[in-house]
Amino acid sequence: MPGKSILAIIGGTGAGVLEDFVEERRSEVSTPWGSPSAPLRWGRLFGAEIVFLARHGDGHALAPHQINYRANLWAIDSVGVHCVVALAAVGGITQNMEPGTVVIPDQLIDYTYGRAQTFFDEEDPVKHIDFTDPYDAEMRKWLCDGARQADVPRIEQATYGVTQGPRLETRKEISKMEQDGCDIVGMTSMPEAALARELGLSYACCALVSNWAAGKGTRPIHDELEESLKQALARMRLILKAALSRPLPERP
Ligand code: HPA
Repeated sequence: MPGKSILAIIGGTGAGVLEDFVEERRSEVSTPWGSPSAPLRWGRLFGAEIVFLARHGDGHALAPHQINYRANLWAIDSVGVHCVVALAAVGGITQNMEPGTVVIPDQLIDYTYGRAQTFFDEEDPVKHIDFTDPYDAEMRKWLCDGARQADVPRIEQATYGVTQGPRLETRKEISKMEQDGCDIVGMTSMPEAALARELGLSYACCALVSNWAAGKGTRPIHDELEESLKQALARMRLILKAALSRPLPERP
C-alpha cells in the first residue's frame, strides 16, 4: 500500500497524550497479533495531520514488558502510515545526557528478554532484517533538521540500552551498560524498532531524559522525574512543531 504522508507518533511515559494534539477521530484496529495498546487517534498536531498511539494504553496501564508491540506496529502499518516517531522517557548514563535533554539515538543495545520480537516466527525460509542501523536515517534527519530549525538543544548521536524492567536498574548494571557503550537507558525501544523494520516502516526515536540512571545522579531517581520530563517535553514539542512544517521522508 502506498504510504500516506502523515506521521505516526507513539507516545510513552509523560507523553501518553500530547498537549497540542487536536483529536478528530479514533479507530479501533484489530490485528492478527491481538489488540494494540489503545485506539489510533487521528487529528492535528501543529496543523499537520497525525495519528497517535499511546504505547502504555489509556491511563498508562501497561508496563513495558506487557505491551503488545506487534499489534501496535501492525496497526500503524495497516492504516498505510509509514513514518513513525517513538517518544520514550529514558535515564541518562553518560555525562552529557543530563535530565531534561532530548536525544535522537542512532544505535541501541537490546537487553530485553521474553518479548515477542518478530512477525516472522512462522516464516519459511526464515527472514533476517538488516538492523545494522536500527533507527531510520531519513526519519532521524527529519527530526534533527526540525531541532536545528527550532534551535533546540538536542543530542543527535547516542546508544539506547533497552532493559526489561519494569524495575529500574542497579548501579552495577548501569556501569556495565556504560562499558558496553550505552548513553541512555529505557525499556521500550525493543522490540519496537525491530518490528518497525520488519514491516518496512521508517522509525526513529525521540528520547526524553527524565532522570540520571541508577548511581549516576545525586538525587533519588523519582525526585527529578517530573520536572525533567517537563523540560524535555517542552523541547520535544518545539522540535516536532518545526519538523512538521517540513515534508516527511518519502517511502523508499
Ligand atoms: N531506566 C530505565 N528506563 C527508564 C529510566 C531509567 O532510569 N528512566 C526512564 N525510563
